[in-house]
Amino acid sequence: MATQKLASLFFLQQIIHVLFILHLANADHGLKLGFYQKTCPDAEAITRKITHQHISRAPTLAAPLLRMHFHDCFIRGCDGSVLLNSTKNNQAEKDAFANLSLRGYQVIDAVKSALENKCPGVVSCADILALVTRDAVSMIKGPFWDVPTGRRDGRESVASETRDLPPPFGNITLLKQKFAAKGLSVKDLVVLSGAHTIGTSHCSSFETRLYNFTGKGDTDPTLDPNYVVHLKRKCQPGDTTTLVKMDPGSFRTFDGDYYTLVAKRRGLFQSDAALLEDTETKSYVKLQANTYGSTFAKDFAESMVNMGKIGVLTGKAGEIRKHCAFVN
Ligand code: HEM
Ligand SMILES: *[C@@H]1O[C@H](CO)[C@@H](O)[C@H](O)[C@H]1NC(C)=O
Ligand SMILES: *[C@@H]1O[C@H](CO)[C@@H](O)[C@H](O)[C@H]1NC(C)=O
Ligand SMILES: *[C@@H]1O[C@H](CO)[C@@H](O)[C@H](O)[C@H]1NC(C)=O
Ligand SMILES: *[C@@H]1O[C@H](CO)[C@@H](O)[C@H](O)[C@H]1NC(C)=O
Repeated sequence: MATQKLASLFFLQQIIHVLFILHLANADHGLKLGFYQKTCPDAEAITRKITHQHISRAPTLAAPLLRMHFHDCFIRGCDGSVLLNSTKNNQAEKDAFANLSLRGYQVIDAVKSALENKCPGVVSCADILALVTRDAVSMIKGPFWDVPTGRRDGRESVASETRDLPPPFGNITLLKQKFAAKGLSVKDLVVLSGAHTIGTSHCSSFETRLYNFTGKGDTDPTLDPNYVVHLKRKCQPGDTTTLVKMDPGSFRTFDGDYYTLVAKRRGLFQSDAALLEDTETKSYVKLQANTYGSTFAKDFAESMVNMGKIGVLTGKAGEIRKHCAFVN
């Protein structure tokens, strides 16, 4: 009798233990896989189909979409604030200087309108951006990852809050600080910087490295001098319109080339070069450069899930916007 009691007590304890672990696993900031399984079962399939239509026609859109998700998450958390338009009384993130080349809003809008037709008022703009980003990256040979969903949309977007973004001239101390402030690790920093394996940059984002690094008409000594010559041919002083490919060999393909470039001192921004200033980030750069990005795809998938959890609104917080550019 006593052993039976003891056994059932033990059993009960195990159940409580399992429930506790399940609770922890679910406590992913309130997000979970397949959040829309019951309320909008086709949400992810529809998102993928529409994203595919756009990316197959314009593969270069994957880069600004990925960057849009990054900006969304770093400013006020992944709450779709980057999608909101300015109003009479408020200048939104979109219209801050740091928006520079953000584009691809039409993809988000197309998905949103399809989902509003199918299941009105259910799927948030913040989730749509996270899903579209994942789909777009995977369509240009990048990794695929499961996106936990359940984000809700914020009601505010403030241009001045783009100061939370790391600047392209940031040194390693500043970069680590900006990422830590969002709950991201040094590994997340070096892994997510690998997003610069796709896309383009305006000359103005790195011009000082070419022409006036310390205010004496000099160049950044951490930049490969041969590459300086090449970049100076593309970018005249004061050029605000020319776009330069960040990974010139394959700027439309999501591969591990970024680390080869950075190791050769050909990263475009000081923030890219800064990854060689710290032992942990430097050893990651070298590892990927020497092994053709052996673990980059897997690491990127993990870090994107981490980034996608920054400051999310869940439960009853925020709202589900009807149109991604406006609060309800
Ligand atoms: C580590 C700190 C980072 C800094 C300082 C930084 C800075 C920049 C800058 C200045 C540009 C060029 C903007 C322009 O002149 O048009 C750029 C482009 C880009 N960034 Fe970053 N970034 C960082 C991290 C990230 C992260 C975490 C992601 C995504 C996970 C990302 C994705 C991109 C992409 C895809 C582009 C190309 C956009 C396009 O082709 O339109 N960046 N970044
Ligand atoms: C929101 O603003 C963008 C420009 O930033 C504009 O192109 C777009 O038409 C606006 N959206 C709506 C629905 O007014
Ligand atoms: C970005 O901001 C500039 C001015 O700060 C604005 O003219 C431009 O329309 C904005 N871009 C987008 C896509 O909203
Ligand atoms: C890094 O940048 C910060 C702020 O931009 C500056 O205060 C600091 O002195 C810099 N650190 C190094 C080691 O250059
Ligand atoms: C270089 O920087 C210095 C100091 O900021 C400034 O006085 C000078 O005008 C700049 N030169 C050019 C060519 O931009």
